[in-house]
Amino acid sequence: TESTRELLLSRIRDVADYPKPGVVFKDITPLLADPVAFTALTDALAELCVRHGATKIVGLEARGFILAAPVAVRAGIGFVPVRKAGKLPGATLSQTYELEYGSAEIEIHAEDLEADDRVMVIDDVLATGGTAEASLDLIRRAGAQVAGVAVLMELGFLAGRARLDPALAGIPLEALITV
Ligand code: PRP
Ligand code: MG
Repeated sequence: TESTRELLLSRIRDVADYPKPGVVFKDITPLLADPVAFTALTDALAELCVRHGATKIVGLEARGFILAAPVAVRAGIGFVPVRKAGKLPGATLSQTYELEYGSAEIEIHAEDLEADDRVMVIDDVLATGGTAEASLDLIRRAGAQVAGVAVLMELGFLAGRARLDPALAGIPLEALITV
């Protein structure tokens, strides 16, 4: 609802010139510290998971973990972490993606997803879309289906939605707030 959006937006702090000059960092820690806002966020994301028929939730390290784990408990479905390279002990699938400078690599335990799973990807922010796009590749390479991508906040000026569009191919990208 509009009042939920306003509550969530009011608990996100803009930090100028972080992590580097000219960048405005969207700090979600005030939202996490407010139990009413954190619960409203968890409920809203869990509702999206149910609406889109998700059977698993993938959370993206690190901030995506904080949101996705309570959503998984709330929705009553399993949680699967996508971690930065080198952190998962078992057999992993790995995907590299381009950053503004250089590249990054994320991994998943493929055995945690099954062929009939419909996976909702949850993260705090959609910026350029690179992280989310790489996570969709991992889920599909693991043999599962993508039910959707859900984020607290979409940074519209970075055009992540357009970048993700071909990989989504009609699968929903849900942003509770767009700035
Ligand atoms: C941030 C944010 C998203 C990602 C969005 O994560 O939490 O996961 O960037 O950017 P993109 O759409 O351009 O890929 P980051 O890896 O910076 O830090 P974190 O480990 O604190 O989540
Ligand atoms: Mg992140």
